[in-house]
Amino acid sequence: MNHTIIALILLTISITNTNCKHINGTLEDKRLNFTGFALKYAGAVAEYDVTTEDGYILKLFRIPGDKTKPVLLMHGLLCSSNDFIIRGNDSLAITLAHAGYDVWLSNYRGNMHSRRHHTRNPDTDASFWRFGPYEHGYYDLATSIDFVLNKTKERSLSLIGHSEGMLITYILGAERPEYNDKIKIVIALAPACHLEQISLRLPKIEQIGSILINFLKLHNIEEFLGFNTVSGKMLRNFCSDRFLGNDMCRQFFLFAFGFDPEGLEPSFIPTIFNNFPAGTSRQNIEHSIQFISSGKFKQFDYGPITNFIKYGSEVPPEHDLKKVTMKMYIIAAKNDKLSVIEDNGLQAKELPNVEEYIIIENELFNHMDFIWGRHTPKLLHYRILEILKKYN
Ligand SMILES: *[C@@H]1O[C@H](CO)[C@@H](O)[C@H](O)[C@H]1NC(C)=O
Ligand SMILES: *[C@@H]1O[C@H](CO)[C@@H](O)[C@H](O)[C@H]1NC(C)=O
Ligand SMILES: *[C@@H]1O[C@H](CO)[C@@H](O)[C@H](O)[C@H]1NC(C)=O
Ligand SMILES: *[C@@H]1O[C@H](CO)[C@@H](O)[C@H](O)[C@H]1NC(C)=O
Repeated sequence: MNHTIIALILLTISITNTNCKHINGTLEDKRLNFTGFALKYAGAVAEYDVTTEDGYILKLFRIPGDKTKPVLLMHGLLCSSNDFIIRGNDSLAITLAHAGYDVWLSNYRGNMHSRRHHTRNPDTDASFWRFGPYEHGYYDLATSIDFVLNKTKERSLSLIGHSEGMLITYILGAERPEYNDKIKIVIALAPACHLEQISLRLPKIEQIGSILINFLKLHNIEEFLGFNTVSGKMLRNFCSDRFLGNDMCRQFFLFAFGFDPEGLEPSFIPTIFNNFPAGTSRQNIEHSIQFISSGKFKQFDYGPITNFIKYGSEVPPEHDLKKVTMKMYIIAAKNDKLSVIEDNGLQAKELPNVEEYIIIENELFNHMDFIWGRHTPKLLHYRILEILKKYN
């Protein structure tokens, strides 16, 4: 395969891409940003810039509701707050807002909303991009929780995390155990942490991953699929193209995370790619590949020498799930090809305070359906509302 030719094709499509001119509910949503969605469907929105202990400036969105019932939504890898709202009335954020909750959505360092730091410039300082799940959990999540509690004057909040959003919640609970008490209930959607089964099913991930990571390092690419980077824009424009990219990307994402053509209809694909991928650091991607290839929930592997300097041992330490004492519900999907139910089952056994482990009764529901799927209201949201009601 000649990469130059592929790049040229993508470029041509992204330049010539002309979107449908008819204005229609779906097409209008295709152009909205978070603020636009919140105003259209909930009538109100607030945004805050919040600074972490180590100087990153994060964007927190809020759809104001009953202050005594704050719910914090934490997105997954390469995602953002937007992914929780792009389904409009059928999205989780709007559903919670309509049910009266005070809905807060964080954006981790490095994504399109949180690409800022007090001293480091993301465009010129490689040091800006030295972060991964550990920093997301230890700093970004902790800062977001404290900010919400301070604003609402509450002692604890409800948290809903999807995929890496849960992985970082486990890191926070394990590494800063005092935060367990600030969370009254967690609803874990397709949580990822130690991916033992998936590591067996993807034996080549280490090889393929290292080709990708080495390529990025060779070209000094620190930001991975950033929203406004050339690669990010090309991918998004290509995937929004209704003649070619739309279906290819739909197939690709469906096949990668579980096949559910019903849950992700073609007309919704442009809306997804108007918001996703939101960008992250190369290190975050590298660490995610390590989680899959090792099947272990451990800190970033720098190689034996640096590991010894950083951690005092040649192999990175594992996070102790026993310290994650927050009360939680785990919700898994049978057709999830990333956070597979066997791994979720192990997690549910190992975590000390799991109230209930729920498997969604549908054969096709999968990893991305949790946030983007058309059938979330009847398969997922009613359960979430039932659970939240018990604790709020
Ligand atoms: C507009 O939306 C309707 C359904 O809501 C759909 O059937 C129709 O194809 C859409 N029009 C265009 C031009 O996409
Ligand atoms: C969202 O879109 C609105 C209207 O197009 C625009 O005024 C606003 O600046 C955008 N907000 C962000 C954060 O991009
Ligand atoms: C969204 O739901 C609200 C409240 O149920 C309703 O008033 C509104 O018309 C809905 N909007 C759309 C575009 O369906
Ligand atoms: C809480 O908010 C008050 C005023 O809004 C501020 O002075 C204080 O520093 C905040 N505390 C924390 C821990 O953020």
